[in-house]
Amino acid sequence: MADRLIYDDEFVARLTENAGLKAFSGGVFVPTMGGLHEGHLELVRAAKGLGDPVVVSVFVNPDQFNDQADFEGYPRRFEADAALAESAGADVVWGPSERDIYPDAFEVPTPDLPRVGTEPGLEEAHRPGHFAGVARVVRRLFDLVQPEVAVFGEKDWQQLQLVQAMVDRDGGPRIHAVPTSREADGLARSSRNERLSQAARRKARAVYLALQAAAAANHPSTAEKMMREALESHGLEVEYAVVRSSTGLRPVDDFSRPSRALVAAWLDGVRLIDNLPMPVWT
Ligand code: PAJ
Repeated sequence: MADRLIYDDEFVARLTENAGLKAFSGGVFVPTMGGLHEGHLELVRAAKGLGDPVVVSVFVNPDQFNDQADFEGYPRRFEADAALAESAGADVVWGPSERDIYPDAFEVPTPDLPRVGTEPGLEEAHRPGHFAGVARVVRRLFDLVQPEVAVFGEKDWQQLQLVQAMVDRDGGPRIHAVPTSREADGLARSSRNERLSQAARRKARAVYLALQAAAAANHPSTAEKMMREALESHGLEVEYAVVRSSTGLRPVDDFSRPSRALVAAWLDGVRLIDNLPMPVWT
């Protein structure tokens, strides 16, 4: 059985003391907020092939929620998560307390947000402060675990680009990206999907249909219009449905370079986000 480290001050003290010694030198780190599903497990399986040991953290980071109800309703089931992570190959499952991450003794700094995190019209416009919380906890987790590789999912594309930009600027582990894991009808797996009613769950496939429609368009502005129409016609409330450059997430005029369609929309009180690469036209 993997080590289950729950509220383990000793572990954190050891990590902190050993900061210069690279506690998990060579290790592969999979940060999560729990509520583990098949998508998370694919990250753990991918991690298994990249190094040793595989460390999975489960921490519902209060600092990145801008909606108290969302924070309170977030699934919390450490034992079940730990068992799932172990079944996928985790060597260490770590469930720190809030004090482990944000100790009383010092203020954990918030890194400056790389530009990709604040591109207008995307997450920052709709969840102000969310990425500041993500950047802060990810940097703190990297400092504690000191992995050689960290694994993130493409499901949260802007988060992935933000973390990559942060380590490019400040140093840190190599970032390994894992493609989005989807249900049979294309819905991207998410811990929040379990909050959808049955009727809403059926409508939720509109997100993937919209992204696929975008990939068949001949111009980014047409793609954006098609996505919005597809989402609204299924009763989703659109926050954004845009095509952006893949890594910088800047607006694009054509499909001549790698780009990505990105969607955030509300359905049944649940915020769904997803994205898909667009074909490059040469
Ligand atoms: P969480 O939403 O739990 O996601 C943890 C990791 O799993 C992220 O890298 C996310 O992109 C990935 N993931 C989630 N659903 C996925 C899917 N369907 N397919 C592929 N990967 C998927 O993202 C966070 O937690 C937090 O912001 C965190 C980085 C842990 C910082 O608190």
